[in-house]
Amino acid sequence: MSTPTLKVTIDRREIEARPGETVLQVARRNGIDIPHFCYHDKLSIAGSCRICLVKVNNLPKLQPACNLAVAPNMVVETGVEQVQKAREDVLQFILLNHPVDCGICDKAGECKLQDYQHKYGPAESISRDPKHHKRKLHDLGPRITLDNERCILCSRCVRFTREISRSNALGIVERGNHSYVEAQTPGEFNDAYSDNVIDICPVGALLPIAVVATVAQSQLILWTSLSSLAFLAGLGALSAYAGGARMWAGAGRVAFWGAAAMAVTAGAGALFGAVA
Ligand code: SF4
Ligand code: FES
Repeated sequence: MSTPTLKVTIDRREIEARPGETVLQVARRNGIDIPHFCYHDKLSIAGSCRICLVKVNNLPKLQPACNLAVAPNMVVETGVEQVQKAREDVLQFILLNHPVDCGICDKAGECKLQDYQHKYGPAESISRDPKHHKRKLHDLGPRITLDNERCILCSRCVRFTREISRSNALGIVERGNHSYVEAQTPGEFNDAYSDNVIDICPVGALLPIAVVATVAQSQLILWTSLSSLAFLAGLGALSAYAGGARMWAGAGRVAFWGAAAMAVTAGAGALFGAVA
């Protein structure tokens, strides 16, 4: 017996869908990009991030594509102005207190927030208020740390521990601006599948502690080397400028090249440490 299908129209394309599928699933299966943060194929639907809003059959309000089952003759628009404006507003809201530190983020290049901001986001923030700061390195367990400022509270990690690993080890505590992900027993998130949440996080909020420590150490070595180099080079230039004592100028040059060699070696070591 063949699977019953129904017809829906997404972006003026007539598509066959299976009853029970959501608009987001049908769109994804047919190569139509609808942005999503909290939705994940293997998890229950939270419908909380609102980046997936689409226009349906001239309904006055936009609908979340991840939480809307297809219906016969449904007409969906994912690229109209109203939808684009909603995406801009959601991204504006998510980035309100976000540090936007892509330059030093491990997830840069594979971060949904970075991709969507680039593709759908507004050119600049309309907020003129100072950002609300949150705890940066918040160890959930012995191996995983959370950057609360990068977390977009999509609850993927929380649902993973409820529905896949079934440890119920994570939850979201507090409310509004103060909400954050916390381990059931603070500092003891350590179940057998805990490392998977790093991968399931759509942004760079969850980090392996071992990597954070290595990168911090490498950056320290690099910056120490560069500042010594700058200091010694300045000393050399100063003594050469003073001109009186050639001996000092010579010593300055020796110090300069010595420091340069030291910086290059330490920099290469730091880079190797960061990559390894
Ligand atoms: S840590 Fe990542 S997966 Fe967990 S709620 Fe925050 S953004 Fe979502
Ligand atoms: S993906 Fe639909 S509300 Fe988050």
